[in-house]
Amino acid sequence: MKKLFFFSSFVWIVATNWAAAQTITSPDSKLSLSFSVKNSEAFYNLKYQNKVVVTDSKLGLRLLNSPDLNKGFSIKDTKTSTFKETWKPVWGEKKEYLNHYNELAITLSQQPENREIVVRFRLFNDGLGFRYEFPQQPTLNYFVIKEEDTEFALSKDLKAWWIAADYDTEEYKYTESKLSQIPELFKGSYDGNASQTIVDNAVQSPLMLKNIEDNLYINVHEAALIGYSAMNLEIDYSNFTLKTHLTPDAQGAKGYIQTPFNTPWRTLVVSPNAEGVLDSKLILNLNEPCKIADTKWIKPTKYMGVWFEMFLPGKSTWSYTDLDNVRLGVTDFKKMKPNGRHGANNANVKKYLDFASKHGFDAILVEGWNEGWEDWFGKSKEEVFDFVTPYPDFDVKMLNEYARQKGMKIIMHHETSGAATNYERRMDDAFAFMHKYGYNAIKSGYVGNIIPRGEHHYSQWMVEHYQRVIEKTAANKIMIDSHESVHLTGLHRTWPNFIAAEAARGTEYETFGGLNPDHTTILPFTRLMGGPMDYTPGVFQTKLNYYDPNVTRQVSTTLAKQLAFYVTMYSPLQMACDLPENYARFMDAFQFIKDVAIDWDDSKILAAEPGDYIHIARKAKGKDEWYVGGITDESKRSYTVDFSFLDKGKTYEATIYEDAKDADYIDNPMAYHIYKQKVTKDSKVSIQLARSGGYAISVKPVKIATKNK
Ligand code: NOJ
Ligand code: CA
Repeated sequence: MKKLFFFSSFVWIVATNWAAAQTITSPDSKLSLSFSVKNSEAFYNLKYQNKVVVTDSKLGLRLLNSPDLNKGFSIKDTKTSTFKETWKPVWGEKKEYLNHYNELAITLSQQPENREIVVRFRLFNDGLGFRYEFPQQPTLNYFVIKEEDTEFALSKDLKAWWIAADYDTEEYKYTESKLSQIPELFKGSYDGNASQTIVDNAVQSPLMLKNIEDNLYINVHEAALIGYSAMNLEIDYSNFTLKTHLTPDAQGAKGYIQTPFNTPWRTLVVSPNAEGVLDSKLILNLNEPCKIADTKWIKPTKYMGVWFEMFLPGKSTWSYTDLDNVRLGVTDFKKMKPNGRHGANNANVKKYLDFASKHGFDAILVEGWNEGWEDWFGKSKEEVFDFVTPYPDFDVKMLNEYARQKGMKIIMHHETSGAATNYERRMDDAFAFMHKYGYNAIKSGYVGNIIPRGEHHYSQWMVEHYQRVIEKTAANKIMIDSHESVHLTGLHRTWPNFIAAEAARGTEYETFGGLNPDHTTILPFTRLMGGPMDYTPGVFQTKLNYYDPNVTRQVSTTLAKQLAFYVTMYSPLQMACDLPENYARFMDAFQFIKDVAIDWDDSKILAAEPGDYIHIARKAKGKDEWYVGGITDESKRSYTVDFSFLDKGKTYEATIYEDAKDADYIDNPMAYHIYKQKVTKDSKVSIQLARSGGYAISVKPVKIATKNK
């Protein structure tokens, strides 16, 4: 159902003294975009029903050793068109997505350089995307980017949810403040964290903003980040203009371009309410349709894993031997003694497989299965992993066979230790090894500095590396979940084998740096705008001192809030991260994790406010079942779930998992209450959420008793 036709009615040309403004409106006419050239420079602005989203904002690029691409412009040609289609994702939040926009493509001529570039704008009901296109031409064959000049001129001191720009990590706590307060809060926002390459005066994308006066929610990000470095946003506090700050390579260059080339899309999601931001599919729509012909092998996956126990103080290790061997100079692996705490051993893996298969999971992840961990921890930077050599206590053949008999898969773990070049040359062998033993999914990782060239995690070369891995795994029918990789930009529309990524501060931080109670009320408005996160929820045992009595840190949520994450943190890859023995103690609450769907026919954002709360209802793929989840920040809240999303005339049984009356994320996090109730379309159920609490509801049709059996 694709339509493409050209039209002229919604474009008009406004003559001014020195400029010709080209304007288009969104299909619902609420957003309007204007493009103009003034004094030979290019600008755009965006309005939502006459409220300013961004005022005149500059376009262009500066180049190294070549005239800049940001002035000398005149409009050579303009084309407008409209496009409308609905498309079905391989997996997703809804059965199908609407992709409907009006487009304006401006061909700019640059003199005296005699070059031509195209700026293409797509205006949807939920926002704007635009990109630069560089056609191949003798005067613009190849070039090096010094900086992209694209601006987002907000012109007002908006409220922002932000993390400091860093070329190598996004694993920060979010700060909520006015833009003008960022300088005073900047250092504190990353201090004491694993900061690597902080960029002063800049924040990361996606950036969530709220114009309180005009009641507009604005999300700034990018779509289809391919062959280009990731965008950060520098702030000019004199006029509240955001300026693109690309991630440089080791030499400081920001991109090597051979024409023809299109940049990623710059995106502005705009909505009069926060729910509309979470409902937006603009970033996905700006990506190319699926390029994988046969997608039957791509499966949403619910998994457990030999994983959390390595983060749990005093419990297990990734490495097989005593790390001190390496520090003491004993380098012959065969001479090292096992440390007795290696997590990925046959008996433990079988224990997870038994438990997970009994409770309907699809897979388990096993980390620390392969040689190299003690070399890495002990000596740091070397090519320590070959991805094909299991430790002696991990019988790869037997365990995959055991998993297969139980209808389970084992998820392969490839920690590259940041040695991306090493990974590239070993990938083919690693994939062949996986095929031999029956693996079909990888969790990858890029911990530490990228070697050998000192690239940054988000620079052009690494963005291209992640892309090669996505495409190579697709060709090998392997699903990929990458950690420490670049922020997501909707690439999973094109490559649905890219099933999730981390690229933010996830559950592992509950065990070391900590997470704020509002963290998961912000992530869906920031990191998740680009795609699903492998957040790894599901901690039931919230005190973390049971293998080490000296541990004082505890999880930052109630147990019921952990259940809610399976609905509020959208991902087709969902982990139940806690240890089997912790779930075994709370089987009634675990039932929700067993039941909850991971692929959906519909999703309704019931209520949301970044930093405060999120309530979502989702309909399971191919079933008449709904799952509802709600979370709050550090404040207690009450909320009434309105079941009007249910089908008319049907009665359902709702199972409600909520915080107990006296629950509290600090004093009493594990206190929950479960009850059942019949609900129809007319029902309303009121819920109390504890501080950093939440609730989850499964809604299934009531089975009609059959008479005369
Ligand atoms: C960081 C990842 O986020 C985590 O999930 C993984 O266990 C470690 N790296 C080790 O690879
Ligand atoms: Ca808050």
